[in-house]
Parts: sequence; structure tokens; C-alpha cells
Amino acid sequence: MKLFLSMVFLGVAAVSLAHAAGTDGEISFEYHRYEELRKALVSVWLQCPTITRIYTIGESFEGREMLVLEMTDNPGTHEPGEPEFKYIANMHGNEAVGRELLIYLAQYLCNQYQQGNETIIDLVHNTRIHLMPSMNPDGFEKAASQPGEIKDWFVGRSNAQGVDLNRNFPDLDRIIYVNEREGGANNHLLQNMKKAVDENTKLAPESKAVIHWIMDIPFVLSANLHGGDVVANYPYDETRTGSTHEYSASPDDVMFKSLARAYSIYNPVMSDQHRAPCRKTDDDTSFKEGITNGGAWYSVPGGMQDFNYLSSNCFEITLELSCDKFPSEDSLKLYWEQNRNSLVNYIEQVHRGVKGFVRDHQGNPISNATISVEGIDHDLTTAKDGDYWRLLAPGNFKVAASAPGYLTVIKKVAVAYSPATRVDFELESLMERKEEEREELMDWWKMMSETLNF
Ligand SMILES: *[C@@H]1O[C@H](CO)[C@@H](O)[C@H](O)[C@H]1NC(C)=O
Ligand SMILES: *[C@@H]1O[C@H](CO)[C@@H](O)[C@H](O)[C@H]1NC(C)=O
Ligand SMILES: [Zn+2]
Repeated sequence: MKLFLSMVFLGVAAVSLAHAAGTDGEISFEYHRYEELRKALVSVWLQCPTITRIYTIGESFEGREMLVLEMTDNPGTHEPGEPEFKYIANMHGNEAVGRELLIYLAQYLCNQYQQGNETIIDLVHNTRIHLMPSMNPDGFEKAASQPGEIKDWFVGRSNAQGVDLNRNFPDLDRIIYVNEREGGANNHLLQNMKKAVDENTKLAPESKAVIHWIMDIPFVLSANLHGGDVVANYPYDETRTGSTHEYSASPDDVMFKSLARAYSIYNPVMSDQHRAPCRKTDDDTSFKEGITNGGAWYSVPGGMQDFNYLSSNCFEITLELSCDKFPSEDSLKLYWEQNRNSLVNYIEQVHRGVKGFVRDHQGNPISNATISVEGIDHDLTTAKDGDYWRLLAPGNFKVAASAPGYLTVIKKVAVAYSPATRVDFELESLMERKEEEREELMDWWKMMSETLNF
């Protein structure tokens, strides 16, 4: 499913080298069509080959590649204990700012890394960062090919089949709202249903590719970049009752607010309390300090944000970055300046809460163990190496690690704003415990026999 692109890119490498040399690590604030996007990512790869990798998660309906640039110290592998982060942009093909910001972000991280910026070096060494500038490359081409500066509000929003990708994800909110009332799983609601996803004909190829991506990589934190308004929107997006506007708290409401705020606080436009709505008719009454609960703003069924949270360990928020969906090219630099510190600061949020490993008494990793926090009805699971990351706002918590066939261990943990508190768990298997009990009984029996002189 993941094709390595090095070979495919050799053809454009020569061109890109010249391009990279010409701009000399400067960011060029312009729109990138499909081919230019490829070249821009290749330029970053050529400039910073030891910390980057380009891969694709699949193809759009019209056969364009869904490209991802990965940035980390060991590209291509999950390092045990290192959290994974993703940014996805341009899911609505006509919402173009996020697409460009992720290209600039890649260039910025690469430049700063090379210039020895300690903050960026630490971030790149301790995080596996995935940047997908366009989830809807077909839609973008359609939007961008309209003549003139002013683009239609809707042209290019959907994929080439006319599917709105942010309404196309399996509606897991409906399941969680039933489970909340009647009991049932509180996480990983698509467990063991990969086949059903593959056979679902209603899913667009872009959605399917992203679903597989979410299931395959142990992402911890993510944001989905949109345009048309200016706010950081957090789960749930779909309301419990089905009403159009209703605050719809997830079990991690406190942390989600903190995450959304970690973005908005560094964006002077987003956090401006006195900012006029983008349009006179807009209802921004749910916005506070540049953040809003999704359902309180307006209900979105089948969105990607809630899907991440309910199908995997990944926390995702949705960022609206500009009133204009497809603003003029000469405003792109301004958008970069408004969002640069937010984009970096939000990635750093992946290093909050509690993290560590779950192992057995012999030191073997226990994957798919459950991590639960008392008072928060949303469990997570450990990854392949028994590693886990549980995002939490500051406070005192009781964290439990459990797995079938093992005795559950509960630990009290104090969590500061950051960095994450390291908490490892060592679980005793029930078999082991039975064996110990048997041995204890034997010892006792032996002692009794000796004293009683059998
Ligand atoms: C290093 O990167 C951080 C994060 O983007 C930034 O705030 C800081 O200004 C950079 N330092 C220098 C010397 O450019
Ligand atoms: C993980 O554990 C759950 C229940 O604890 C189980 O239903 C699921 O199949 C497991 N997944 C894997 C990949 O082993
Ligand atoms: Zn959108």
C-alpha cells in the first residue's frame, strides 16, 4: 500500500536541485499545483535527506498520488517510544491555505534544522512527523484551474466523484452515543472491521487510503487544516441528539480544549476576541479565545476528526485558517506568519500527558494492552512495542494498564503541562501467578509435612 517514491522522483531530481539551490533555503510564497507540489517536497528531501522521506498512502479517484513528507531522525520506521504526529490539509480541494502552509512548514523545519535551531532539532529527533499537504489533489486542480483571482466558494470542494470527504468517514459517533447509554466499547470502534472498510463502496478512494493510514500507524496527535473561517475546532463534531447546534463534549474535553488553545494562542487573528466574523451572516457565538467545540458550532456527521478519536489512539482537531478559502497568492506570506508558531507549537503538544511501555515480567512488550484513566471514559491501547502515549491536561490521575491473561496494574501519576510523565508498567501474567501460588502451596505442604513428621 505504501510505495516508496525515490525511483519515481529521480526524473525530477535534477530540476529540483537547481530549484533548491536557487532559493537557497528561502521559502517561496506561491501556490503549488500538483506537479509543483511534488517538486517542492522533493526539494526538501534533497536538502534534508537524512531526516526526510516521501511516501504515498494511495491515489485519488483521478490517479493523483496522496503524497506525505515524513520528518524525523530515522525516517521510514516507528521508533519504540517515539510519538507520531500528522498534519493533513486540503481535504476540501478548494481550501488552499493549509496545503501551502504544510509545504512552507516542511521547508521551514528543514532550514531551521540545518541552521542548528535547537528547538527544531529536538522536535525532529523526538517526534515522527507526517505532513500531507493535499488529501484531495483532484479537487485542488479543479479549484485552481478556474480563471481569475476570485474562486467559486464550492468548486473543487469535493473529490472528483462529487464526494465531500469530510462527510464520508464511517459515522462512529452514532455507535459511541449508543455505547455511552447501553455499555460497549469506548475506543477502537472499527476493531477487526478492516475488511468491511475495503468492501464499502460508499467510501471514496481518498477516505479509504486515509482510514488505512490511521489504522496502520500509531498516531498520537493530528490536525486537519481547512479554510473558510478562522478557529480551532475540537471533538465531538457530531451532536448527540442530532440537533444542529449543541455542545458535544468528548470524554477528553479538557485536553481537547487545551490542544485547540495551544494552536489558537499563537495565531493573532484566531485568538483575537474582537475579530469580526468572516461574513456578517456567520454565527460565531460558540467561538471563545479562537476555539470552538465542533457540535456547538454546527453538527458534522461522518467527519475525519471524530473518526480519528473513535477508531484509533489519535487525537485530532480541525483548524480553520482563513476567511477566504482560496486567497490571492500575495497573501500567502501573511498566512504563514500568522500560523508558523502555532503550527510548531501544536506539534509539540504530542509530548504531553503520560507515556511509557507495558511489558511482562520477562521484559517482553505487551502490544494492544489497554491504558485507562479513572474518570475518563476513553481507553487507549499500546502499540507494537508495548509503547503508549496518553495525552492528558495537568492534574493527578490513576492510570491502569491491563491485558487479557495479566493482572491489572494501577498507578497514581502527577501530570504537568509538559513534558509527558514517563510511567512504565510491568504486568504479571495470570499463569505466572498460578505457578507462584502452586509453589507457595507446595512449600507450605512440605513444611507442614516436616513439622508433623509424615
Ligand atoms: C527556532 O525555532 C523556534 C520554533 O519555530 C522559533 O520560535 C525560534 O525563533 C527559532 N530560533 C531562531 C534562532 O530562529
Ligand atoms: C486487541 O484487543 C481487543 C480486545 O482486548 C481485541 O478485540 C482485538 O482483536 C485486539 N486486536 C489485535 C490487533 O490483536
Ligand atoms: Zn473544509
